[in-house]
Amino acid sequence: MTNVVVVGAQWGDEGKAKIIDLLSEKADLIIRYQGGCNAGHTVVTGEHTYKFHLVPSGILYKGKTCVIGSGTVINPEVFNDEVNGLKEKGIDVSSLNVSNIAHITLPYHLNIDELSENALGEKKIGTTKKGIGPTYVDKIDRTGIRVEDLFDDEILSRKLDTVLPSKNALLEYYGYEPYTKSEIVELCRKYAEILSPYVKDATEIIRQALHERKNILFEGAQGTMLDIDHGTYPYVTSSSPIAGGACTGGGVGPTYINKVVGVFKAYITRVGEGPFITELMDETGVKLQQIGVEIGTTTGRKRRCGWFDAVIAKYSTILNGLTDIALTKLDVFDTFDEIKICVGYEDKRNGRIYDFYPSSTSIHKHLQPIYETMDGWNQNISHIKNYDDLPANAKKYVKRLEEIVGVQISIISVGANREQTIILNSPL
Ligand code: GDP
Ligand code: IMO
Ligand code: MG
Repeated sequence: MTNVVVVGAQWGDEGKAKIIDLLSEKADLIIRYQGGCNAGHTVVTGEHTYKFHLVPSGILYKGKTCVIGSGTVINPEVFNDEVNGLKEKGIDVSSLNVSNIAHITLPYHLNIDELSENALGEKKIGTTKKGIGPTYVDKIDRTGIRVEDLFDDEILSRKLDTVLPSKNALLEYYGYEPYTKSEIVELCRKYAEILSPYVKDATEIIRQALHERKNILFEGAQGTMLDIDHGTYPYVTSSSPIAGGACTGGGVGPTYINKVVGVFKAYITRVGEGPFITELMDETGVKLQQIGVEIGTTTGRKRRCGWFDAVIAKYSTILNGLTDIALTKLDVFDTFDEIKICVGYEDKRNGRIYDFYPSSTSIHKHLQPIYETMDGWNQNISHIKNYDDLPANAKKYVKRLEEIVGVQISIISVGANREQTIILNSPL
């Protein structure tokens, strides 16, 4: 039994799904533990490219139990489209489960996400507008509609009586049409029908898996720097993507977790607004964006790009308790003459040096990166399968990152395809 959390160690889109897909072969149970359809997880198998928003990326392996966990928020329309898309591609979804206590995103959550962003104007967060924040707001407010409520008319009716008037008041204030209770009830009936074949008690599935000493893989969405507590607040998502979120959202205690794999891009990207100390606003940033095809999977927005930030990496290591690193997209540097690593920040006001991430976001605007420069390798590495065959300068880059961050790099990804992977020390 080895239970592994795969966590985004930067601002999301690190290539988590590729690593989940890789490790799923040896896993028995794969659980998405937080977030919702704001996630866009890509797996490239050779024949097909799959884009997941809610369904765990492990579904591509037949017979693996997959769970959309208790800490997630579910838009049943998106779920339906995704499941139908998988079925059309011949993927068996009979082992897919949805936690009975996950929360439901309703149309008013989407409206509120949009109106909040509009109201913030230039200070907007740049959300995916999938209603994620507003759904979690209701959960924390203890007024949310959970999956199981869709199947209980009395509870649903009571909850809507509490929640709908305040939602409608807000919507009307901003010039949106209010919802009638009957139209939401009708929608919930449809949602119940969509979800009904999949609803299970996720804790019971986990209990059984632990009892049978199966391997459990916890699939993180978003990334550490988007964490509601520890990320670049308020430019964050509304859940806990960090490894601890696998315990709260997945529903297991920390003593059941054996390994935590942090997925890092060989550089760093972010979509949406918020501080980004190593962001490249020049042609190097454009080159990374273009070669890395850095376009958001969910929203189609261009991702902002920058050099690898080892200060963030060290912060991420502590927050997640990383035991392993999966380093992705190393191939994107194939045509770079030199590559930089941010090893510290300098406060422009007083020269103070930071080699560990200051969680106080108010000072971020005063910080500038301190770089170490390394030589590139100027050759194609996407066909390489063994670490020893990597060019000397690529190995130097990997070793330097490992040395600064202080965590073993166990997987190196050199292309989007499943096969384009160098495994040094498989976590599973
Ligand atoms: P996730 O949200 O963390 O699962 O990542 P995304 O799927 O949003 O974005 C990662 C993108 O990079 C996807 O298009 C992947 O197919 C692609 N990708 C993953 N690993 C590699 C790699 O090593 N090299 C290259 N060139 N692309 C990769
Ligand atoms: P995966 O799982 C990258 C970002 C949004 C925005 C902020 C808040 O594919 O790595 P939200 O809609 O969650 O309220 O938006 O979080 N964001 C992501 N960025 N990858 C993701 O998911 C993201 N999910 C949300 O761009 O800045
Ligand atoms: Mg993504």
